Amino acid sequence: MNQKLGKDVFITTPIYYVNDKPHIGSAYTTLVCDSVSRMLKLMGHNVYFMTGTDEHGQKVEKAAQKAGKAPQDFVDEVSQHFKDLVSKMEISPSRFIRTTEPDHIKAAQALWKAIKDNGYIYLGSYDGWYAMRDEAFYAEEELVDGKAPTGAEVEWVSEPSYFFKLSAFQDKLLEHINQNPDFIQPLSKRNEVIRFIESGLKDLSISRTTFQWGVPVEEDPSHVMYVWLDALTNYLTVLGYPNQESENFQKFWPHCIHFIGKDILRFHAVYWPAFLMAAGLEVPQYIYAHGWWTNEGQKISKSLGNTIDPIALIDEFGIDVVRYYLLREVPLGNDGNFSRSGLINRLNSDLANSFGNLVRRITSFIQTHCQGFVPQFLEFSKDEEILFNHPISLAEEASVFHITHFIDSINQYVHQLNKYVDEKAPWKLKESNKPMMEHILYVALESIKRISILYSPFIPQACEKVLDGLNVSRDDRQFNQINRMLESGSKIHEIGILFQKL
Ligand code: MSP
Repeated sequence: MNQKLGKDVFITTPIYYVNDKPHIGSAYTTLVCDSVSRMLKLMGHNVYFMTGTDEHGQKVEKAAQKAGKAPQDFVDEVSQHFKDLVSKMEISPSRFIRTTEPDHIKAAQALWKAIKDNGYIYLGSYDGWYAMRDEAFYAEEELVDGKAPTGAEVEWVSEPSYFFKLSAFQDKLLEHINQNPDFIQPLSKRNEVIRFIESGLKDLSISRTTFQWGVPVEEDPSHVMYVWLDALTNYLTVLGYPNQESENFQKFWPHCIHFIGKDILRFHAVYWPAFLMAAGLEVPQYIYAHGWWTNEGQKISKSLGNTIDPIALIDEFGIDVVRYYLLREVPLGNDGNFSRSGLINRLNSDLANSFGNLVRRITSFIQTHCQGFVPQFLEFSKDEEILFNHPISLAEEASVFHITHFIDSINQYVHQLNKYVDEKAPWKLKESNKPMMEHILYVALESIKRISILYSPFIPQACEKVLDGLNVSRDDRQFNQINRMLESGSKIHEIGILFQKL
């Protein structure tokens, strides 16, 4: 793979607000991160992958009030929906963090103290606009028709507040971004951040006094920490912070990719690195902002009643189909439009017709005409060697930031293989040249194995079925073992239909 990643890699999703049930946006980033983690593990990296829930702040407190529940009871309940979604997606993160957990509260307070001790926090008072939906402060000149630029309602806030000296980091941030061209991706988002910083950074209010549901500021408990300072710290909590000697902190910080949606770029690419610099910590290696999904052309919103329930989608189509559609349909970084017919088309053409059908016709032919044994091969032609080597070059060129492109290249390979089988027509050689028939089947079967290894980060269930059917050992499913050929004469099992066409 072509990016500069070391052996140990830390992959993070944003942590999700528990004011409401999960929706397609909450599932999307997690699926992207899970696929990237699987892709890295396949290539031999050691991955720490975390996700979780963001449980403090005014928005969550209000949602609890509305539900008539104590905040802790409310967040316990809603957080469980997010945990359920993670298991429904068959994802096992290294940790599912909740910001109401004691080790996180300790970490957030420790980060505050480190920033304070370095002289970057002072007491003042905040008089300005706040959008609860975004949990963000906005300057007067940012408002559009009396609302936040995101369309969220704003309210005037006037209260004592601790401030973070963000203004002191303007030059340092720009310098870091300039020296590390890949720090913020894609490029359009990097440029957006540069423009924002260049427009001038003001000090940031980092505590609130008009509600209680947050991490208390230790030295002044009438204040709770600004929810974004609390939430962002979660990326350190999971690695053992404030114990910087802990094994995971040593291994994984700052070798990190923060995958986020484009709406939370400012918090991750400006505030977060500034907090870290202020605390004397290293900044994350990469921040990647993906686009937003609309539903059948419309912005997704509760008031329009067009939210997409990821659990219902998985129940209807199965997790592999949902993963495949979301990852293949839209290049990471672009906005995408969810459409049922688009999903069914992808299922029918790429998964059922192209890959599923290839596996079915080759393995069932082998069951019937080779008694279920891996066929014998003859000498491989130049073209066949190219076919075998193709997945290796694909993987070498692959980038975790271009997963859509990688999936598409695997699809091209499947297409090439289907063409090989059609042209060679092994079924015509049953009587006339059985050794050649077996040879062609062997090439097809070995290629199916290779395809399944490459596809496994994206459609793990189907690939597991194929690799189990071909009796490929766990070790041999690693990319560095891809050249270990199937053994002629060993038994393969029935694989069945991988994807049901609709
Ligand atoms: N709690 C903060 C993140 C804190 S990270 C330290 C938050 N939570 S959120 O639940 O509102 O959003 C979580 C993620 O979902 C964000 O990355 C956001 O971009 C993403 N999405 C929400 N709706 C989305 C779509 N319609 N499409 C794609 N992703 C979207 O922000």
